[in-house]
Amino acid sequence: MSADFTQAQRDMLVAAAREAAGGAYAPYSRFHVGAALLLADGSVVTGANVENASYGLALCAETVAVAKILSGGGHGMLEAVAVAGGAPGAPGEGPTVTPCGRCRQVLNELAQLGGTDPVIWCDGGQGVLELRLSELLPHAFGPANLGPA
Ligand code: THU
Repeated sequence: MSADFTQAQRDMLVAAAREAAGGAYAPYSRFHVGAALLLADGSVVTGANVENASYGLALCAETVAVAKILSGGGHGMLEAVAVAGGAPGAPGEGPTVTPCGRCRQVLNELAQLGGTDPVIWCDGGQGVLELRLSELLPHAFGPANLGPA
C-alpha cells in the first residue's frame, strides 16, 4: 500500500464508494457503481452512475463525483479515489472495477488543477487494486496542454 495513506484511510474510502453504489440509477445495466473522492482538506465527495433510456448517455460514478466538486466551485487537491461496483446490493464482490477511459480523463482534469497524482483504489472480490492515475492515464492531456490562456 502507498506510504502516503493508512489502511484505515483506504478502508474508509472504499467503504464510502461501496455505500455510494447504493445510490446508482442503473436499471439498464444493473451494474451499480460508486466512487468516493478524497480531497486534501479531508472532505469526501461521492457519486454513483446515472443511466438513461438512451443508453449511450450514461454518466459514470466518477464523472458524477467530479461534476459535484467542480460545479460547486471546488477544485481542491484530489488525493485519492475509490471505485466499487457490481450487482445491486453487492458492490465489491465481483471483478475489479477500474475507472473507464473517459473517467480517467475526467479525473485527470481535477487532479491537474490541484497538481496531484491521486491514488486510485479499485475494489473487487480479489481485494483492492491500487494504482496511480498516472499509471491509468500516462502522458495525459490536461489544462496545461492548452497553453497560456
Ligand atoms: N461505470 C461507471 O460508473 N464507472 C466506470 O468507470 C465504469 C462503468 C458504469 C457505466 C454504466 O452505467 C455501468 O457502469 C455499466 O457499464
